[in-house]
Amino acid sequence: MGRLQKILIPFLGLVLAFGFYSSRENFKPEMLRGKRVIVTGAGTGIGEQMAYHLARMGAHVLVTARTEAKLQKVVEQCLQLGAASARYVSGSMEDTAFAEHVVKEAQNLLGGLDMLILNHIGKSYFGYFDGDVGHVQRLLQINFLSYVAMTASALPMLKDSGGSIVVVSSMAGKVGFPLTVPYSATKFALDGFFSSLRQEFSMQSVNVSITLCILGFINTEAAVKATADVILMSPAPKEECALEIIKGGALRQREVYYRYASTKIPLLLRDWAADLLDYLIRKHYNMENFKNN
Ligand SMILES: NC(=O)c1ccc[n+]([C@@H]2O[C@H](COP(=O)([O-])OP(=O)(O)OC[C@H]3O[C@@H](n4cnc5c(N)ncnc54)[C@H](OP(=O)(O)O)[C@@H]3O)[C@@H](O)[C@H]2O)c1
Ligand SMILES: *[C@@H]1O[C@H](CO)[C@@H](O)[C@H](O)[C@H]1NC(C)=O
Repeated sequence: MGRLQKILIPFLGLVLAFGFYSSRENFKPEMLRGKRVIVTGAGTGIGEQMAYHLARMGAHVLVTARTEAKLQKVVEQCLQLGAASARYVSGSMEDTAFAEHVVKEAQNLLGGLDMLILNHIGKSYFGYFDGDVGHVQRLLQINFLSYVAMTASALPMLKDSGGSIVVVSSMAGKVGFPLTVPYSATKFALDGFFSSLRQEFSMQSVNVSITLCILGFINTEAAVKATADVILMSPAPKEECALEIIKGGALRQREVYYRYASTKIPLLLRDWAADLLDYLIRKHYNMENFKNN
């Protein structure tokens, strides 16, 4: 036991240090210049910030969400920041046909696709599981099945370009989190689908990368409002988060952890000390401030 630990701990340290430093260093904003990118859920939050970063890097951006007025502003801002082009398509991902329509628009307007960034989420509740099965079904449609539909329709274009799929997930998609049961379920589903698909791409020599992003608490308006005063953690900035996601996608990384210290490190406990990790997560909830809604 003692000897095993002596070997294992430095080894783990090396693996982590290697993973941390190997890719981050050689990202260049020029990697995105002229690239054709779809960003979903880009009217607000992290998606909006990703659109701005891509614009500064000189990409062609196609953004989508439901609220047209917000998308118009995002497109305007993208053009000012230097996007090669910026357009939007508005509609709801509750509808599979709409998800497929967005991909077709990339074909029609941009003639192809280099990166598909799947980021949108439907509204859920922050509270104990209320037994509403219909809600779980709707959320699976928005947070999971629309991702599957967009991936399936975009695959021919992504194969042509040797492109990338970037999937925005969460700590809640790797380990159980209380008060977000339906949300957590949809995020776990993404891991199963995209991690399996990555294996098949490798076996079939399909040169399309899949990057799964494991995010901690981020300071978007939606997240901060929903979890107000219950989660005892300071949220990380959405601007930097958005940049780390794009970097990971451009470098064709398997997964992105942001912030690294509050996501990857705790997750190391998951397989060996699951109860301890569960306990540590519960400790970050201040239930005295919780009002079930
Ligand atoms: N913020 C965090 O703490 C955090 C933590 C871990 C992971 N994440 C992940 O990061 C991603 C972005 O989160 P965020 O905090 O930036 O969220 P957000 O600000 O709430 O943005 C969600 C986006 O999705 C769109 N949307 C909502 N319902 C939709 C629907 N039915 N059809 C199509 N689009 C819809 C919204 O615009 P409309 O309402 O106009 O449609 C908005 O543009 C999500 O995948 C989330 O799970 C966030
Ligand atoms: C896969 O695609 C990437 C990016 O388009 C390219 O740099 C790389 O050379 C391709 N790899 C193979 C094996 O074709």
